[in-house]
Amino acid sequence: MTPMRWPAAARPSPVPFVAILAMAGCSGPASTLTPAGPAAQSIASLTWLLIIVAAAVYVLVLGALAVATRGRGRPSQGDRWATLGVVAGGIVLPLVVLPALLFPSVRTLAALTRPAPAQLVVEIVGHQYWWELRYREPGGVEIATTANELHLPQGQRVELRLRATDVIHSFWVPVLQGKLDLVPGKTNVTWIQADRPGTFHGQCAEYCGIQHALMRLVVVVQPPAEFDAWLHAQRGPARPAVHADAQRAQQIFLVHCAHCHVIRGTTAFFGHIGPDLTHLMSRRTLAAGTLTNVKGNLAGWIADPQTQKPGNLMPRIVLPPDDFHALLDYLTSLR
Ligand code: CUA
Repeated sequence: MTPMRWPAAARPSPVPFVAILAMAGCSGPASTLTPAGPAAQSIASLTWLLIIVAAAVYVLVLGALAVATRGRGRPSQGDRWATLGVVAGGIVLPLVVLPALLFPSVRTLAALTRPAPAQLVVEIVGHQYWWELRYREPGGVEIATTANELHLPQGQRVELRLRATDVIHSFWVPVLQGKLDLVPGKTNVTWIQADRPGTFHGQCAEYCGIQHALMRLVVVVQPPAEFDAWLHAQRGPARPAVHADAQRAQQIFLVHCAHCHVIRGTTAFFGHIGPDLTHLMSRRTLAAGTLTNVKGNLAGWIADPQTQKPGNLMPRIVLPPDDFHALLDYLTSLR
C-alpha cells in the first residue's frame, strides 16, 4: 500500500480524513459491501436496509431534539405535544420499526444456512492458528487436502462442513458468506458460492488465542476448468525425490518434521498437527496469511517460527547448515 502524500501547503481538516478512514472499510477484498456471491449479496442488501432505516431514525431524533431545545422555558405550551411526541416516537415508532426489520433479518439468516445439494464439499478444520481444508465428494470420499487457501469454482455452490480440533474459531469471508463458528466436537454445515473470479480475504472471527489475528484465509475463485485443473494437481502425490540431495532431505524431514506434517507420496504420511505440505509451493502464503510464500520467507519461517508468529505451535528446529539448505531446496520443489 502506498502511503497517502499531502501537499506541503495544505493542512487537511480532520473531517474528510475521518470520512476517508470510515469509507476505506467499504471496499476491497474483505468488504461486506462489495459482495461476490449470492449469500454476501443478501447480507449486503440487509446491511443497506439497516443503514437507511437507522439514518432516517437518527435524523428524526435530531429533529425532535432541535424542536425540544427550541421550546425550552415554555413548558405549558409544549406539554401536550411533548407527551404525544414521547408516545409516538418512543413507543409506537419502535413497535413498528423493530419488527419490520426483524422479518428481513430472520429471512436472510434462514436463507444463509439453508442446506442445498452441492457437487463439492469442503471440510474446514480450525486449528490454532491455521485452516485445514479437505476437499471431498458429496458422498464423503476425500479428494485432496490443503491449508490456508480455499479454492472455489466460479458460479457453483459448495457445501462447507466446519469443525475444530482445539478451541472455537469462526469462518468468515466477508465478500462471500457470513460468519459461522467452528466448534470442537460438532460439525456446522453451511454453503458458499462465488460468482466472480478473484482473490478474496477470509479471517478467523472468534478470538482463539494469541495469534487469532494472524489466522487468515486466502480465497481463490477460479473459472470451473481452471479450478478442476487445480484440484487435479492437489489430488496427486508430491513430486518424487530423484536426486540424492532430495532423498537426503526427505530423511531429514522424516526425522524433524513428519511428526506434524504430511507429504503425500512419501513415508511422511502420519503427522496431522500442522498443514499438509504435499503441494506447499502452490500456495500464496505461509503461516495462514502471515508471510508471502517465497523461498526467503520459508527459510526464515523454518529457522525461527516463533519470531515470525509468536505463540504458534511450530517449534524451532536447529539443523546443521547443509541439512537446512537441503531441506529448504526440497520443500521449495513441492509444487
Ligand atoms: Cu481462530 Cu481466531
